[in-house]
Amino acid sequence: MEHSVLGFTIRSAQPRDAKAIRMLLGSPAEQFADLWVAVDSGRGTVVAAAGVTHSRRQTPLVGPGITVHVIAPCRRRGLGRALTNHLAHRAGANGAVALYAAQKVELGSEEWQALCALEFTSCETVQHHELPLDQFELQLAPLYERLRAKGRIPASARLVPLATANFDEVVRLHLAELGSDSQTLMRRLRGEAPDSFSARYSQVLVIDDQTVGFILAHRTDRTTATVDANVLAPEFRNGWANIWLKLEATRGALRLGITKFIFTSFDHYTDTRSFTQRFGGATSKTVALMHRPLGGSAAQAVAGEPPSDLAT
Ligand SMILES: CC(C)(COP(=O)(O)OP(=O)(O)OC[C@H]1O[C@@H](n2cnc3c(N)ncnc32)[C@H](O)[C@@H]1OP(=O)(O)O)[C@@H](O)C(=O)NCCC(=O)NCCS
Repeated sequence: MEHSVLGFTIRSAQPRDAKAIRMLLGSPAEQFADLWVAVDSGRGTVVAAAGVTHSRRQTPLVGPGITVHVIAPCRRRGLGRALTNHLAHRAGANGAVALYAAQKVELGSEEWQALCALEFTSCETVQHHELPLDQFELQLAPLYERLRAKGRIPASARLVPLATANFDEVVRLHLAELGSDSQTLMRRLRGEAPDSFSARYSQVLVIDDQTVGFILAHRTDRTTATVDANVLAPEFRNGWANIWLKLEATRGALRLGITKFIFTSFDHYTDTRSFTQRFGGATSKTVALMHRPLGGSAAQAVAGEPPSDLAT
């Protein structure tokens, strides 16, 4: 099927478009379940591409992710809207009730503005926080000592550096609480990935030989570490475990010359957000997952489930 928009033709992508698609969408054609291009009707060159992901998010509405890119000289002529509407129509016919932007975008950015104009709205935000460590240990250490003195910390609780932890157990808890995939996690745990978790200041909490929590982090420059995961089994949240884990991770990082942690929080991580404020952290940016409900009675909200991470 083809249709025209003011001197451009929109058609389904062909094998000969592979190079243009990779350049425009930043991924090979196989990564998309449905792929369309806009071609300059005069010159026959591809000026825009739009693709739909194979995977679908289940929450808050069922639907795939899309990526749309129009070359700069051809913007503001209706191509972005035509391609998006076309994908929306096709996804709707396939049972989707929403489209998601496959990548999260920074609030207020040009991409965000364009997506808003294309009828997308934010359905989840992720904040990036920066936390200087200088005051951190000073504030956490007395809290920890008080909890220890009051006997709140079970005698069988131990913190072990990641290097000596049970990786299978860490993967199990990570998948249960945060998702991701086991192969990628295992590579990062074993030190085989460029962003592998530090084996020294990443800490794992073990009680009676059960892995019940961890902080996993990796160094991003000489003085900064990014905290990739801060997880506690539900029964150990909001208490001594969080304070002890953070204190030991901080001490380990300080010993290596790290002065700042960077980490992210989703809307439902209210404890992380209040914690950041309490300890003098700053929110460096906020990115949003954008979606466009397709409307109609088919909209099936799936309530009460955590978001999966289609958009990264
Ligand atoms: C976003 C993008 C696809 C829009 O394509 P486009 O062909 O310029 O879009 P259209 O001409 O169909 O415009 C659609 C609407 O978006 C608005 N719009 C487009 N770019 C905009 C921008 N940078 N800021 C604000 N609004 C914008 C247009 O004004 C129009 O709104 P209107 O119909 O109410 O006037 C294009 O700018 C692009 O490829 N950007 C880089 C990649 C990107 O950010 N993709 C979005 C995430 S997948």
